[in-house]
This record gives sequence, C-alpha cells and structure tokens, in this order.
Amino acid sequence: MRKPVIAGNWKMYKTQAETRAFLAEFLPLVAESRDAEIVLAPPFTALAAAVDAARGSAVTIAAQDLHWEPEGAFTGEISARMLVETGCRGVIIGHSERRQYFHETDETVARKVRAALDAGLRPIVCLGETLPEREQGLTEQVLERQFRGGLGALTPGDFSSILLAYEPVWAIGTGRTATPQLAAAAHAFLRGLASASFGGDKAASARILYGGSVKPGNIRGLMAEEEIDGALVGGASLDPASMAAIVNFREG
Ligand code: PGA
Repeated sequence: MRKPVIAGNWKMYKTQAETRAFLAEFLPLVAESRDAEIVLAPPFTALAAAVDAARGSAVTIAAQDLHWEPEGAFTGEISARMLVETGCRGVIIGHSERRQYFHETDETVARKVRAALDAGLRPIVCLGETLPEREQGLTEQVLERQFRGGLGALTPGDFSSILLAYEPVWAIGTGRTATPQLAAAAHAFLRGLASASFGGDKAASARILYGGSVKPGNIRGLMAEEEIDGALVGGASLDPASMAAIVNFREG
C-alpha cells in the first residue's frame, strides 16, 4: 500500500506571521488525519517559522527550491545544508514555474536532486507537459525526457527516497484540472519508466502525486484512481480550511 501524500506548494505567498496564523488554524483540522502524509512548502523566509509552528504535529515542512552547491558565490541562492538547518525535511525540485521563468533544465534538476538526497532532504520532483506539447501528442516524449534527464543518474535506492509530481503545465493555476483518467494514464506511463530504470519493486512503491488545480471538490475523484498517490496543491493550499478538506478527502 502506498500511503498518499498531500503537499501544499505556497509559491511566493505568506509571511512568517501569516504562516503561523495558517498553522494555528490548520493543525486542529488535521489532528485526527491518518490517511495521508501532510507536507507544506512555504517560501524560504517562512521555513523556520513553519517548522516551529508544526512541531509535534504530523505536518512536515519542505522548501520550494535549492541550489546544488553546498556554498559559494551564488548571490540569492540557498543550499541544501541551509535548508536542513531550518528543520525542513524535503524540497520541491523542477516545478514548471522554475523551468518556465527561471530557466531550469533537466540538468539542473538532476544536480538539485543529487544535492538534496546527499543532504538527507526528500526531493519532490515535478514533471509535466505544456499545452502545445500535449496538443502535438508529445506528452510521453516530454515526460520521458524529463524523467531520464532529471532522474536517470540515480540508483534504485536513491529513487525510493523521492516523490514524483506529475503536473501538466496547462492545469496549473488555470482552474483546468486534468481528468482523473488522463492523470492516471500519465502516472502509469511514469511508473513504467521507473520500472525500466529502477526495477518493478521500486516502481510499484514509488509515490506519484498529481498537481494542477487540485481543490476540495475534485480531490476524491483523483484519489479514486489507483495510480494517483496524492496531490501537490498550489492555490487551494493557501487557505487552512480548503487544504484540510483536501487532506481529509476520505471524509468528504
Ligand atoms: P495550482 O498549483 O494547484 O494552483 O494549480 C499547483 C502547483 O503549481 O503545484
């Protein structure tokens, strides 16, 4: 059984004070939740506040990015060991907004994944096609390129420490969710790639989250698919009640 993971990607939202206020409201709403691992990814500046506010709860904290070098003259960047020091346990890598606006490539994704694993952080690695790519029938080609380029150098042991997130770019922040069937087909394709690279057992236990306009109203349909092991939630993770409703999807 793969335990679902519900992760919130806050993007460039929430100050430290807003982070503490969110957790004060959110934690009681998920105190009885046992069905999913819960992860929140605030901006760098609110990581330590989030770790502090979530202490003693089942919620773990992740960052949204990192640099692959341990330290150096890289103005504005944050390394894995700096993240570890805040108490955060994971890091999102290769989000489509980073690929689109900050020129991330499969190669930088691979370096970041390596650096995160070496520091003991769990990477949440995002992949997904754009609308033109889907319309041209290139979805599988793009996923395969991103998978091999970002994860190809990992060992099977490394692979079992990561989470994958399938995030079709056309569904992010657009209100246009992939249908559960369409998402499940992409997940099955990714699991096949995982099996070819890392073996059937590792592929069978890999958790693949879906991301793109996940809301309280569509999470149940998505989670009903055997292939979908959780969600990476953007906009709907900013509100404590809506994020809690997604976490508690089995009760909805
Ligand atoms: P969204 O974002 O839920 O606001 O579509 C998802 C994501 O970017 O991870």
